[in-house]
Amino acid sequence: MAERSEVVFVDGVRTPFGRAGEKGMYWNTRADDLVVKAIIGLLERNPSVPKDRIDDVAIAATTQQGDQGLTLGRTAALLAGLPKSVPGFAIDRMCAGAMTSVTTLGSGIGFGAYDLAIAGGVEHMGRHPMGFGADPNPRFLSEKLVGEDALNMGMTAERIHDRFPHLTKDRADRFAMLSQQKVAAAYAAGKIQADLVPVALRSESGWGLATEDEGMRPATSMEGLASLKTPFRAHGRVTAGNSSPLTDGATASLLASGEAARELGLPPKMRLVSFGFAGVEPEIMGIGPVPSTEKALRKAGLSIDDIGLFELNEAFAVQVLSLLDHFGIDDEDPRVNKWGGAIAIGHPLAASGVRLMIQLARQFSEHPEVRYGLTAMCIGLGQGGSVIWENPNWNGKA
Ligand SMILES: CC(C)(COP(=O)(O)OP(=O)(O)OC[C@H]1O[C@@H](n2cnc3c(N)ncnc32)[C@H](O)[C@@H]1OP(=O)(O)O)[C@@H](O)C(=O)NCCC(=O)NCCS
Repeated sequence: MAERSEVVFVDGVRTPFGRAGEKGMYWNTRADDLVVKAIIGLLERNPSVPKDRIDDVAIAATTQQGDQGLTLGRTAALLAGLPKSVPGFAIDRMCAGAMTSVTTLGSGIGFGAYDLAIAGGVEHMGRHPMGFGADPNPRFLSEKLVGEDALNMGMTAERIHDRFPHLTKDRADRFAMLSQQKVAAAYAAGKIQADLVPVALRSESGWGLATEDEGMRPATSMEGLASLKTPFRAHGRVTAGNSSPLTDGATASLLASGEAARELGLPPKMRLVSFGFAGVEPEIMGIGPVPSTEKALRKAGLSIDDIGLFELNEAFAVQVLSLLDHFGIDDEDPRVNKWGGAIAIGHPLAASGVRLMIQLARQFSEHPEVRYGLTAMCIGLGQGGSVIWENPNWNGKA
């Protein structure tokens, strides 16, 4: 048996994320075109990659219909101009689709089946609303396999508030406001734009170019957040302000074996250390990243104190707080979501996992004192996904 190969994250890019719906910038853009754009942008940034050496392309989407159907990895590879000899496939694990593309292809590299692979995801939530066309088996409810709340993500977030009353609406709102402020500061410092691939837009008013995320609300205040309706439950705590918004967008990343990266002169941005997926009660799906993180830490032989940077997907503020609370991390710990998160940037479900990795990779380059980082996210129907990465720039001092 061959030994496990080293797996590295060479690079990742994404489209700017747009607001879903008729008024959103991507209303007239196909979902597959978004991910094709991301793949082209990724390869343009890495011209030394021989395209015919790419061993597989895995692209995730949650609703695999229409322009998100037809085995996206294969169709996107062909549309992106990759040689016809490059295979591809589609992946679905709802919000952790892109994360699962990375762990699946990363595992293939670790096993020695692949040298180079492209992993990413797309979700056009405007044209493919959550749950659209789904036909959940009636047994789920008739046999009480899950409660009705399990199928409504906002309700699952309300349930976390119920279960952990000390995670108050005030704390969730503050976390959300800070996310908006951190994203605005990161944009002002040019940190986010560096990994965005501009997308040409067509609307009634003519041609345009998407160069930044559309959903940001930098002026968010605690007073503004306090006044919002609670759409999921009367007198609830979850609002449009402390939830991730409905979003359109795509991501793509280049993974390689350590050996192929060295051979091709591709400097790695991160090294894959371990990953874990775990299931929880679907009614409180947002706590999923707690057991998946414990699993990933166990596999890596690390403890939470070894993690120097966290990129946690902000599906809902309360759901991130539940993870921080579990591990005894302060709501405002500077290691967590340094440049904000999905509440401000958006969360195009199956694309988001790679967005977390893109941001962690860039932070690694700025923080050689940090050795390990975590990307983690909750997943519909009660799951969590966590990936631990090592910083190749680590200076060995901390
Ligand atoms: C919460 C949710 C239902 C809100 O949808 P929406 O009503 O279309 O959201 P909008 O952006 O129109 O915001 C609603 C209102 O809140 C306001 N608002 C939103 N964020 C705000 C902020 N940060 N500060 C002040 N006001 C804000 C909007 O301006 C809007 O006001 P209006 O009604 O006066 O126009 C939707 O974003 C959602 O379902 N999010 C969760 C997505 C999800 O489940 N993802 C998967 C996770 S597992």
